[in-house]
Amino acid sequence: MSEVATPAGVEAADRSLLVVSNRQPYRHGHGDDDLDVDRPAGGLTAGLDPVMQELGGTWIAWGDGDADADVVDEDGRIEVPPEDPSYTLKRVWLSEDQVDGYYYGFSNQVLWPVCHSALTEVRCEPAYWTSYQEANQQFAAAVLDQAAEGDTIWVQDYHLALVPALIADRLSPTTELFHFWHIPWPSWDTFRACPYGPALLRGLLGNDVIGFHTQRYCRNFLECVETALSDASVDRRSDQIRYRGRLTRVKAMPMGAPVDRVVEQANSQTGRTFGRSFRETHGIDADTQLVLGVDRLDYMKGIPQRIRALERVWETRPERRGEVTYVQKGSESRSRIPAYRRLQAEVERRVEAVNERFGTDDWTPIEYTTRMLSQEELYGLYREADVGLVTSLRDGMNLTAQEFAAAQTDADGVLVLSDQAGVHAILGDQALTINPNEIEDVAATIVQALDMGPEERHERMQRIRERLASRDLTSWMERCLQADRPRPAQRREIRDDA
Ligand code: G6P
Repeated sequence: MSEVATPAGVEAADRSLLVVSNRQPYRHGHGDDDLDVDRPAGGLTAGLDPVMQELGGTWIAWGDGDADADVVDEDGRIEVPPEDPSYTLKRVWLSEDQVDGYYYGFSNQVLWPVCHSALTEVRCEPAYWTSYQEANQQFAAAVLDQAAEGDTIWVQDYHLALVPALIADRLSPTTELFHFWHIPWPSWDTFRACPYGPALLRGLLGNDVIGFHTQRYCRNFLECVETALSDASVDRRSDQIRYRGRLTRVKAMPMGAPVDRVVEQANSQTGRTFGRSFRETHGIDADTQLVLGVDRLDYMKGIPQRIRALERVWETRPERRGEVTYVQKGSESRSRIPAYRRLQAEVERRVEAVNERFGTDDWTPIEYTTRMLSQEELYGLYREADVGLVTSLRDGMNLTAQEFAAAQTDADGVLVLSDQAGVHAILGDQALTINPNEIEDVAATIVQALDMGPEERHERMQRIRERLASRDLTSWMERCLQADRPRPAQRREIRDDA
């Protein structure tokens, strides 16, 4: 594991870091003969783990592995990473019913679709909200148990919106409470459809600071608080909210990728050779152009739209058949939810249909794989690809786009990027922009990317890579941990006024 620079000021402030998230960075399972450890898919855990390795501290998360309970101490704690322990993972245990109601229910069938403006996917059973409250109380209890005076508590994402208000008044005033919301925050007109919306907002207003990826999400959040909570006072010039004696600051802090680590792994022996061996295994000629998509199998990633666009490329431009192969790497996700199972089946069906329609003895148009790849293999595949395709229908940030570009160590790939992903606010001017719902335009843009001359490719990718290097994961951490938060004394003063 390569080094991630320590964010400035974190050690100096002599604060311990306590990260709280639903998803854990390491999961233990019973393998065929022995215990095995895997690293769950998703940008949040992959991004924060190297930082925790560098800073140390405690990470509280749901222990969902079937061997998780067998390897921890009596407080549910284990030192990780297994090969070189540097921080503590404390696991929170949830019952099957809680997992159904809190994780598969309220988090992923209410909050996920609401925040991604996919209101037709919202399903809310009464038990979901009860479980969500219970699970948040359990996480809150774990934080109170672990927190020491002066710690920085850093809560992650939409699973834990109630935790801040549950703990804020029970922490020492020198403790800092910060929440990062990794997915979009929708406009009030969408959020008003969210069951228990005001309660969620009240929960979040326990924080000193709330971070979002873009300015637009910040504005939306302020608008929701102003409209839903009549006793909140929102100052849009300073992006601050006063609510029941507490001050909360809202900040745009776009997350960055671990650029140095991606470069190092893309340049490793495996990174350099994996592309070629992938071609060999899948019978892809050395001169066939590669278009690549890497996603969790989520209905917000626009995978069917992307396949439709590729189909249009081969349909309307027969000379491209046999010249271009699309590689779709998918990771299974949230499969107990019907919408996710439907999406998986749809992707398989569409891939098969395209391959049947255009495939020949020598050429398969779409190579679809759900195989786990190591990071070196994945970055090697990015490096090999001529075009990276990100077609999210809505996406908080999308770290895949950043990692694809970071892995282009020869700066010769082209990024085709949805204007609906948060990362578009950073890279939109150098990537080729698409609206994922305009299928003909996506098809034309893929062709434009494939035909782009080496000079333009290089210039665009070089600018993207410079930008990513200047706002990488370490600088994101610095901004998050030094965020201009209300100082503890200020918090006390406001409470006294209340
Ligand atoms: C998104 C969310 C994360 C989540 C990840 C993977 O990136 O913002 O909080 O961990 O998806 O999803 P999962 O449901 O497997 O944790």
